[in-house]
Amino acid sequence: MFKTVATTPFDDQKPGTSGLRKKVPVFQQPNYAENFIQSVFDALEGYEGKTLVIGGDGRFYNREVIQIALKMAAANGFGRVLVGQGGILSTPAASHLIRKYGAFGGLILSASHNPGGPTEDFGIKYNIGNGGPAPEKITEAIFAISKTIKEYRIAESADIDIDTIGTQKLGDMHVEIVDSVADYAALMETLFDFEAIRALIKSGFTLRFDSMHAVTGPYGKEILEKRLGAPEGTCLNFVPLTDFGGHHPDPNLVYAKELYDLLMSADGPDFGAASDGDGDRNLIIGKGIFITPSDSLAMLAANAHLARGYKAGLKGIARSMPTSGAADRVAEKLKIGMYETPTGWKFFGNLLDADMATICGEESSGTGSNHVREKDGLWAVLLWLNILAVRRVSVQEIALEHWAQYGRNYYSRHDYEGVDTASANKVIDALRAKLASLPGTSVQGLKIAAADDFAYHDPVDKSVSEHQGIRILFEGGSRVVFRLSGTGTSGATIRVYIERYEPDPSRHDLETQGALADLILAAEELSAIKAQTGRKEPSVIT
Ligand code: G6P
Ligand code: ZN
Repeated sequence: MFKTVATTPFDDQKPGTSGLRKKVPVFQQPNYAENFIQSVFDALEGYEGKTLVIGGDGRFYNREVIQIALKMAAANGFGRVLVGQGGILSTPAASHLIRKYGAFGGLILSASHNPGGPTEDFGIKYNIGNGGPAPEKITEAIFAISKTIKEYRIAESADIDIDTIGTQKLGDMHVEIVDSVADYAALMETLFDFEAIRALIKSGFTLRFDSMHAVTGPYGKEILEKRLGAPEGTCLNFVPLTDFGGHHPDPNLVYAKELYDLLMSADGPDFGAASDGDGDRNLIIGKGIFITPSDSLAMLAANAHLARGYKAGLKGIARSMPTSGAADRVAEKLKIGMYETPTGWKFFGNLLDADMATICGEESSGTGSNHVREKDGLWAVLLWLNILAVRRVSVQEIALEHWAQYGRNYYSRHDYEGVDTASANKVIDALRAKLASLPGTSVQGLKIAAADDFAYHDPVDKSVSEHQGIRILFEGGSRVVFRLSGTGTSGATIRVYIERYEPDPSRHDLETQGALADLILAAEELSAIKAQTGRKEPSVIT
C-alpha cells in the first residue's frame, strides 16, 4: 500500500522566519508539498512508531495537504497521528497537543496572518517535540535535503475522513481525529481564574473578540461565550473561512480597523481583541486606547502574578530585538532575567525549556508563555481579562499607571512592502557598510551612541545567529532598527522600527507618530529607503 515516487528538487524550499510560505499555486505544483514534507521527515531521526500532530488554520488548500501529510506520515513509519477535527488546529493548540501527548513533533499548515484563497498564501511549518518551531539547525537541514531530494514515500489509499472524531487506521498507523478546542480550553482553565473573569463579565464589563474569519472562531466561542458567560455577539467574524472573507487575517490597526473604531467610540465596549489566521497573534485595545504589542508584553509581565498560572512570579522575560524595551524595565524592577533574541518565536524555545524565561513577546503582535512553545493570541486575551478581573480598573488606567511608573516607550513600525529584492538588499547593505562610522555622529540633531548588526548568542545551546537587523542606538535610549521581513511571499518587505523612551509623565499623552517625528526623519536620512525604492510613504504603519 506504500509507494516510493521519483521526484526532482525545487530550489525555493527554504523555510523563512516561520516555516515555508508560498502562494497556493506554487504549493499546487506536482510534488511540491510532497517534496517539502519528505525533506522534513528526512531531516529527522528516530520518529518511527512515534506520534505526529497535524493541523492547520483552515485556509484554502489545508484539507488537501492534510491528506498528503497523513499518507506520507504512514508511509514513512509514524505510529500515530493526531489531527484536529476538520484539519483545524490553532498554532498554540497544536503546540499544546504535541506537548500533552508527548508527540515526536507536528506539522502546522498555515501562512499565519497572510491572506488565503486560491491565489493567496499557504505554508507548512515543522514543530519539534517541545511544541515549538524547529530551530535553525533543523530548518537548514530541511532546506539542504530539499535541494537534492530524489524520491518521497506515500500511501496509496482513499482519503481519510478528517471530520469525524475517533480513531482509524492507515496501514499500521493510527489516525486519531481529535476535538480541536477541548484540550486547549482545559489548559486555559488551569492558567486563569475563569470564576473571576465570569464575575467581571457578569458585572457588566463588555468585550469583543474578532477572529477575523480565521482559526480562533471556535476557540473564542467555546471559551469566551460558553465557559466565561460572555453574551452572544461577543465573538465577531467567528466562522472560519478558507479565504478569511477576502481580508488579511492580521490583527493590527490597518486590518482590524473596524474593531479599533468600535473601541474608540463613546458607547463602545470596555475591551476589544483580535487574533490572526492561525491564532498565535493578538491585538489588544481598551476603551479609547490601543496597547502596542511591546507595551502589552510589559504590562502583562508586570501583572502576571495576579493570574493563577503565574502567581509564583516570572523567571525571566524575553523579547525579540526589534520589540521595544518597555519589558526590560519591568524585568529590572522584578530583578529577573531579560533576554533579547532575533525575530522569530523559535528563538524563545531554548529559554523557555531551560526555565530562564516565563513570558515572551514580539512587536509583531505575539505574546506567550511557557504554557506552550508558540505565541498564543487567546492566551494574551485571557491574561488581560484575568488582570482586569482582579484589579477592576480600565485598560486605560492600567496603561497610564504603568507608564507613570516605568516611563513610556513610544513605538511604531513602518513597513515598505512589495519592494524589489535588489533594492531592499541595497538599503540594508548600505547601512551595514557604514555602521562603524556612525557612533559619535548626529542625524536630525540626535547623537548616535552605538550602531551594529544584531547577532544573537543563544545562552543555552551557544549557537550564534548573525545579521538579525541593523540597530542604530541614540543617546537617551531612542533607537531605529532596520531589517528585512522573513515571512513574505513576494518581493521584499523593509521594516523600520522606531522607538523613543519618555520618562516624563506629563508627556505620556502625545500622538505616537508626532512623538517619533525626529526619529522617523533620522531613519530616512540614514537609510534613504524612499530614494532607493521610489516609495513616498510606508505601505503599513503600525
Ligand atoms: C511570524 C513569526 C514571528 C515574527 C513575525 C514577523 O509571526 O512567528 O516570530 O516576529 O512573523 O516576522 P518578519 O520576519 O516578517 O518580520
Ligand atoms: Zn500567526
